[in-house]
Amino acid sequence: MASSASWFCSLLALFLVFSGTYGQLSPNFYSLSCPTLLSVVSDATSQAILAEKRMGASLLRLHFHDCFVQGCDGSILLDDAPGLVGEKTGFGNVNSVRGFEVVDAIKTKVEAVCPGVVSCADILALAARDSTVKLGGPTWTVPLGRRDSTNANLSQANSDLPPPFANISGLIAGFAKKGFTAREMTALSGAHTIGFAQCKNYRDRIYNDTNIDPVFATNLKSTCASAAPGTDAKLAPFDKQTDLVFDNKFYDNLANRQGLIHSDQELYNPGGTQSQASVVSQYRSNSNTFFNEFAAAMVKMGNIAPLTGAAGQIRLNCRVVNS
Ligand code: HEM
Ligand SMILES: *[C@@H]1O[C@H](CO)[C@@H](O)[C@H](O)[C@H]1NC(C)=O
Ligand SMILES: *[C@@H]1O[C@H](CO)[C@@H](O)[C@H](O)[C@H]1NC(C)=O
Ligand SMILES: *[C@@H]1O[C@H](CO)[C@@H](O)[C@H](O)[C@H]1NC(C)=O
Repeated sequence: MASSASWFCSLLALFLVFSGTYGQLSPNFYSLSCPTLLSVVSDATSQAILAEKRMGASLLRLHFHDCFVQGCDGSILLDDAPGLVGEKTGFGNVNSVRGFEVVDAIKTKVEAVCPGVVSCADILALAARDSTVKLGGPTWTVPLGRRDSTNANLSQANSDLPPPFANISGLIAGFAKKGFTAREMTALSGAHTIGFAQCKNYRDRIYNDTNIDPVFATNLKSTCASAAPGTDAKLAPFDKQTDLVFDNKFYDNLANRQGLIHSDQELYNPGGTQSQASVVSQYRSNSNTFFNEFAAAMVKMGNIAPLTGAAGQIRLNCRVVNS
C-alpha cells in the first residue's frame, strides 16, 4: 500500500513538473477560460512602454512590491477606502511606485474579452514578465491562477519592502524571510538595470558613503543637493550606461562602485563578511547566467503565498474590493 501510494505521488510529481505547474499555479490556468489573455496583456504592455519606456521598469517593480507584502495577491493595487487601509502610503510606495493607470488600462482590455475571470495579481505577473522582455531581458513562463486579496497590509509594506539604506545583512535577512537565498536576492536586484531613483533615496549615498566612485558621486551632486528638499524628487538612472535596457550592466556598475543606492552597492564589497562580490562578478561576466537566474527567481517570487482555489476573489476593478 505504502509503495503504491508513493508511486502515485512520484507520478503526480512528474506530471506536475512536465505540465509546468509551480506550487498551485499553472501556466495553462486560463487556456480555456481566457485563451487570448497572454496576447492582450502583452499588446497592452507594449503600448504602455511605447508611450513611455520607463513604464516597463515601473510595472516590474509593482509586481515585486505586490509579492513581498502578504504574497502576490494584488494588494498593492487597492486604493484606501472606508474600512480599508491600502499599501500605497507605505514608505517604499508613497510618491514612488507608479503604473496604476496602466494596470487599470490592461485590466479594462482583459475584462472586455474575459469578464470576471482574470485576477489583477496575475495581470501584474504577466505585465512584469512582458516588460522585462520588451526592454531586452530574459523571458520565462508565468504560472497563473492567483486570486486577488480582499485586504491589504500597510504595516507589512512598511516592514517587508527593503529600504535603500539597508545593509547586506538586512538585505539577506529580508529576502530570506520570503524564501530566497542571498544569491537569488543578488539576481533579483539586477532589476535595477532599468529605471530610476529619486534623490531622497540616493542623497545619503552620494554625500556620505565611502564605497563609491568619487567622480560618479560628484556628478550626481549637481542635481541632488545635500540640503535642498526641493531636489528630493530629482531622478537619476540606476544604470547610467543603459538606463532602460535590461542587461547585466548593473553588475558592472557595482564593480565600479557606481551603484546608485546604498543597498545595491552593499552587494559588492569585497572583503565584507556576507559580500556577494563573487556572484556580482559572475553575473557581470556572463549575462546568460544572470538572465537564467533572474528568470528562475522571478518565477519563485511570483509564487509567494498566492491565494488560490476559493480564497480571495477576482476583482473587477483592481483598485477596489468587489462589493
Ligand atoms: C534588494 C532590495 C531592493 C531595494 C532596497 C530597492 C529599492 C528601490 C528604490 C529605493 C527604488 C527607487 C524608488 C524611487 O526613488 O522612487 C527602486 C526602484 C526600482 N526597483 Fe527596487 N529595490 C530592491 C529590489 C528590487 C527588486 C527585487 C525588483 C524587481 C524584481 C526591483 C525593481 C525596481 C525597479 C524596476 C525600479 C525602477 C522603477 C521605476 O523607474 O519606476 N527592485 N527600488
Ligand atoms: C499584517 O502583517 C503583519 C506582519 O507583517 C502581521 O503581524 C499582521 O497580522 C498583518 N495584519 C493583517 C490585518 O493581516
Ligand atoms: C545592518 O542594519 C541593521 C538594521 O538596520 C543593524 O541592526 C545592523 O547592525 C547592521 N549591520 C551592520 C554589519 O552594519
Ligand atoms: C551625512 O551623515 C551625517 C551624519 O550621520 C548626517 O547628519 C547628514 O545629514 C548626512 N548627509 C546627507 C546628505 O544625508
